[in-house]
Amino acid sequence: MSDLFRLDGRVAIVTGGGSGLGTGIANALGERGASIVLCDINETLLEKSKAELSQKGIAVETCICDVTDENTFQKVLELSETAFGGADILVNNAGVTRMQDFFEVEKKDFNFIYNINVMGLFRCTQQFADNLRKKNKHGNVVNLASNGAKVTYQDQVHYCSSKAAVVNMTQCMAANLAPYDINVNAVCPGAVDTSMLRACMAATEKQTDGKVTIADCERTWGPPQLGRLIQPVEVGRIIAFLCSDAGAMIRGQSINVDAGNTKF
Ligand SMILES: NC(=O)c1ccc[n+]([C@@H]2O[C@H](COP(=O)([O-])OP(=O)(O)OC[C@H]3O[C@@H](n4cnc5c(N)ncnc54)[C@H](O)[C@@H]3O)[C@@H](O)[C@H]2O)c1
Repeated sequence: MSDLFRLDGRVAIVTGGGSGLGTGIANALGERGASIVLCDINETLLEKSKAELSQKGIAVETCICDVTDENTFQKVLELSETAFGGADILVNNAGVTRMQDFFEVEKKDFNFIYNINVMGLFRCTQQFADNLRKKNKHGNVVNLASNGAKVTYQDQVHYCSSKAAVVNMTQCMAANLAPYDINVNAVCPGAVDTSMLRACMAATEKQTDGKVTIADCERTWGPPQLGRLIQPVEVGRIIAFLCSDAGAMIRGQSINVDAGNTKF
């Protein structure tokens, strides 16, 4: 019997794949047999991530790509085609945040975050789905939202609202792309140990004049019963499941991957 949880023969594009969650997700997909196309704005990070995956025997290609630039994402699709015969999984992982006092947030801050987290994610999905539609091929899209879409993070009004937009867009995408058998879901991680989270911890320590230290954040931001932060690959495994045949009945959902930190 074939293993419904495997991804053999599948090809996955992971945006922002040079570090953090992107690398963890690529590891999880690769471990289940998928070939990986990593794209990121940072070439050094891409090379490091590629070396890590290659060492495990995962087939991987890299491409410099800014998700806000349609031309560079087109190059990612072309590379997927020449290297692996075309991608059928897209993980919209590239995303940014910054911690800012509510009264200091300006329009340019919203533009920066929404341009990557919302518009970049939309345009990559549109190009990816159009490619599959033309080939009459089934595919999966998984969007990185955040549990910040459902609860509040202090000093991140633009980030949390951008991720709430991703949750709704996931439903719209799932509905609009269902006729083409392109399944779209999202994950809403809690505190995952990455450079983004570490930057938020450092900003918190600074903004509180050291009253809340990085050590305090490490202890309190993760799920209490775990006593540690979530690791990127642990989110990646949920994404691998959503893209597998075993996950095919889940559609248009934004699933919390935060070990219960968001109250239910
Ligand atoms: N770390 C967390 O706790 C957490 C929790 C919930 C959701 N998320 C989401 O997960 C995703 C990944 O976060 P992370 O923590 O790994 O962040 P990170 O900052 O550690 O990594 C993000 C990667 O995206 C790349 N990137 C940034 N802008 C880009 C662009 N315009 N085009 C292409 N690549 C770009 C960066 O170079 C980097 O390699 C984000 O969407 C984030 O919002 C993270």
